[in-house]
Parts: sequence; C-alpha cells; structure tokens
Amino acid sequence: MNFLEERITKDGIVKEGNVLKVDSFLNHQMDIQLFDEIGEEFKRRFANEHINKILTIEASGIGIACMVARHFDVPVVFAKKSKSINIEGEMYVAEVESFTHKCKNQVIVSKKFLSPDDHVLIIDDFLANGCALQGLISIVNEAGATVEGIGIVIEKGFQSGGRIIRNLGYHLESLAIVDSMDAATGTITFRHE
Ligand code: G4P
Ligand code: NA
Ligand code: NA
Repeated sequence: MNFLEERITKDGIVKEGNVLKVDSFLNHQMDIQLFDEIGEEFKRRFANEHINKILTIEASGIGIACMVARHFDVPVVFAKKSKSINIEGEMYVAEVESFTHKCKNQVIVSKKFLSPDDHVLIIDDFLANGCALQGLISIVNEAGATVEGIGIVIEKGFQSGGRIIRNLGYHLESLAIVDSMDAATGTITFRHE
C-alpha cells in the first residue's frame, strides 16, 4: 500500500451507497503534510511533462491543487461553479452534471487565465463518473490549451470516469484507485495494476 492507501485505510469511512468519507484529512479538515506528499508524488509521476498551469474546480480541489502547485512552481486556476447565465464572452463555460447531487452546474473560467500557450495539469480530489473532469477538459480545449496530464487523489474504480478518460488517451494518474468498498465491514479494496 502507498502512503495514501494507508491513510484511507486508517481514516476513511465507508458509507452506504458507495460513498467514501475522507473528511478528517482531505475534504473538511485537511492534512497539509499529506497534501505536500501528494504534491511530491504528482511531481514524480508527471516529471516528463512541461506544465505551466494547474487547473482544478471548487471547492475541494483547490487546497490540493495549491499544494501540488508548490512542487511545480506554477499558478493555480480554479473553475467556478455558477448558476448565472450572463457570462458568455469573457468566460469559458462547460455544463457539468452531478450524479451525487442530481443537478446541473455551469463551470466557468475567465478567458484571461487560460490561453493556447498553456500546458495544463488538471487536479481534483475525487474521480467518480468523471463529469467534472470532462467539463474541465472541455474548458482547456475551448481555450486552445493542452491537457498535459490529470492527477486525481482518489478514483472510484468501479465507476466509469477513469475508464472513459483513459480511453480518450489522457495521461491520468490516480494515487489511490478504490476497486470496492463494503459499508458493513468497512473494508476498502484497492486496485494495483
Ligand atoms: P463526477 O464529477 O466524477 O461525475 O462526480 P459525481 O457527480 O459523482 O460527484 C459529485 C461530487 O461528489 C463531487 O464533488 C465529487 O468529487 C464527490 N464525490 C463523488 N464520490 C465521492 C465519494 O465517494 N466520497 C466523497 N467524499 N466525495 C465524492 P463536488 O460536489 O463537485 O465538489 P466539492 O465542492 O465537494 O469539491
Ligand atoms: Na472535487
Ligand atoms: Na468533493
């Protein structure tokens, strides 16, 4: 087990409905020493890519992206979830559907902060169905920028997002891939390729 799998095993809580709660170190209270290790590990895995910007999505992605950015020495841009419509023109916009929350959100990034010169590493905390991720990818494409890689902290390997994104040919690195979870026993099984 790697450092993150160990931490998930120790402090993650399996809820009914295949939900993994990691509120004590990732999603509510944040373990910054762990975030720093996460940043170091992404830097190692994307060592061959020339990355000049990190893109994430509010809210939970931001803290992680900031710590990762320290290891790449680049700025972070976060996509905002917005319900407003009067934003076209100066914003890149993508539609993102949340299966968990059963709603649609517009995700927006100002055109000032993404351009064809940008080589982007996308960072997020969870990958489930991949809707958020596909929204971020579409924003990078709309900007004419390049997705150099995608770094995910926890991938739910039994949902379809990871397979879809890998099939599209993206360099996706997930630090922990959960293959199955059992709420009754609290057992979490990780995938190791
Ligand atoms: P998708 O983007 O992969 O399609 O995700 P989905 O709609 O299924 O998930 C909605 C939200 O729930 C996302 O956060 C996602 O990161 C998070 N999520 C999905 N599965 C789990 C899980 O098992 N445990 C935890 N802790 N989170 C999960 P969000 O609401 O878009 O963003 P944020 O404001 O929380 O960052
Ligand atoms: Na997220
Ligand atoms: Na989240």
